Amino acid sequence: MSKKIAVFASGSGSNFQVLAEAFPVEFVFSDKPQAYVLERANRLGVPSFTFELKDFDNKVAYEQAIVDLLDQHQIDLICLAGYMKIVGPTLLSAYEGKIINIHPAYLPAFPGAHGIEDAWKAGVAESGVTIHWVDAGVDTGQIIKQLRVPRLTDDTLETFETRIHEAEYQLYPEVLESLGVDRKNSPL
Ligand code: GRF
Repeated sequence: MSKKIAVFASGSGSNFQVLAEAFPVEFVFSDKPQAYVLERANRLGVPSFTFELKDFDNKVAYEQAIVDLLDQHQIDLICLAGYMKIVGPTLLSAYEGKIINIHPAYLPAFPGAHGIEDAWKAGVAESGVTIHWVDAGVDTGQIIKQLRVPRLTDDTLETFETRIHEAEYQLYPEVLESLGVDRKNSPL
């Protein structure tokens, strides 16, 4: 049976859109009520939920609400796609081995929130994208699959960034398929 996925995002949600067009997404979770990902979800008919950390007493309570939501929907795999919070012990212990993240650099190089800019500023000849299992560190979990993206001589930060995102849109669906998530139109 196909794995049931939820996508977590805090921002634009372009990766979410790519995934939702290819796979049945049970729901989107965002920690930001104004995030554009919620508009995309609405347009694509994918249910969405938003909790803000500030509405809870602490991160444990915030993450427990997320765990309850995941349990209710019997989610098998959580796909982080621009979810800008560190996954804490409450969520991690409940869904250990079931959370993956996409990072816009070739890890272990350039972890953190600015992987594209950091690689650009360092003047690397190539960077890339990485999908990895989530552990307690920041972008430190076991790598599942990576794609190289060269920096071209006439690249600007913007064109470089665009090609990194294109690589993400290629890699994420490939990895989901390899992890046992069936595409929308796959035969039963
Ligand atoms: C992506 O570059 C992803 O790798 C990073 O955050 C960005 C999210 O972009 N973790 P989007 O919200 O999917 O457009």
